[in-house]
Amino acid sequence: MHAATGVAWDEAAERYEGWLDEAIELIRGGGSNLFPEEVELLGDLHGQCRRAIHLQCAGGRDTLSLWRLGADEVVGVDLSPRMIDLARRLTAATGAPASWFVSDVLDTPHELDGTANLVYTGRGSLLWLQDLDAWAAVVARLLVPGGRLVLFEGHPFEWLVDGDEDGRWALTDYDYFARPEASRGWSPGFIDHLSIPDGQQHWKFSRAWTLGEVVTAVAGAGLRIERLVESPRDWWSGHSDIAPGERGRLPLSFGLIATITSRPASPTGRGQA
Ligand SMILES: C[S@@+](CC[C@H](N)C(=O)[O-])C[C@H]1O[C@@H](n2cnc3c(N)ncnc32)[C@H](O)[C@@H]1O
Repeated sequence: MHAATGVAWDEAAERYEGWLDEAIELIRGGGSNLFPEEVELLGDLHGQCRRAIHLQCAGGRDTLSLWRLGADEVVGVDLSPRMIDLARRLTAATGAPASWFVSDVLDTPHELDGTANLVYTGRGSLLWLQDLDAWAAVVARLLVPGGRLVLFEGHPFEWLVDGDEDGRWALTDYDYFARPEASRGWSPGFIDHLSIPDGQQHWKFSRAWTLGEVVTAVAGAGLRIERLVESPRDWWSGHSDIAPGERGRLPLSFGLIATITSRPASPTGRGQA
């Protein structure tokens, strides 16, 4: 399922390519693409973060935003070669201290183990993964002792609601406890239509991990949950049809901070507690 989803994302990288000039201008100008909620969770990284690793980094715009927020060096990992190629072009245009890896997040190279003061991920990432315990174990092995995971993601509750014709919240028929679903094509307003017709695009697999599953996976990998915050932030503008008076009262995203005090044993035997 991951491999198929990676091919679908490689196709979707076409949309991100169209945003490259905008991303270059933003990063060159010292800007950040992250939401205020994320900046608040991350805090000032200046002098605090030698290396930040961004899992599922797409075209690198959010990764280089971490550099702009003060990380000395950033590393991005993504399954799509076309996304990583885009991230490399963004790096070349901005001179950022960044390195990039094409990899399934679950196979993140072991050379990065125990090197991250910060692992950042989110904004449409976890839904593409089929094994959250394996993902959390990767986060744990990447962090230096005392290092932090900062996650900012779509709230699973968001899958249960949509706007009706009057712009009021209405329940969808989504099952909160559903298993992965296969789909083709992308939402209007986000990736939308690509040069490959929807019906000829690759199948991809997504699922809304429940809040309980996310927290349990992170804690199960030996990280200590420091904060879990819910927010009405419409993180991908998926609910712009909601009437202004209706906005702000439902959780559409969440943030989580977790720290690790010691690293789990790695297959190489390095970095044992
Ligand atoms: C919505 S994007 C990431 C969010 C990012 N904030 C953005 O939009 O710029 C999802 C990314 O996850 C990547 N991805 C999906 N499954 C993956 C996996 N198993 N391992 C690594 N990357 C994966 C896709 O290639 C895509 O670039």
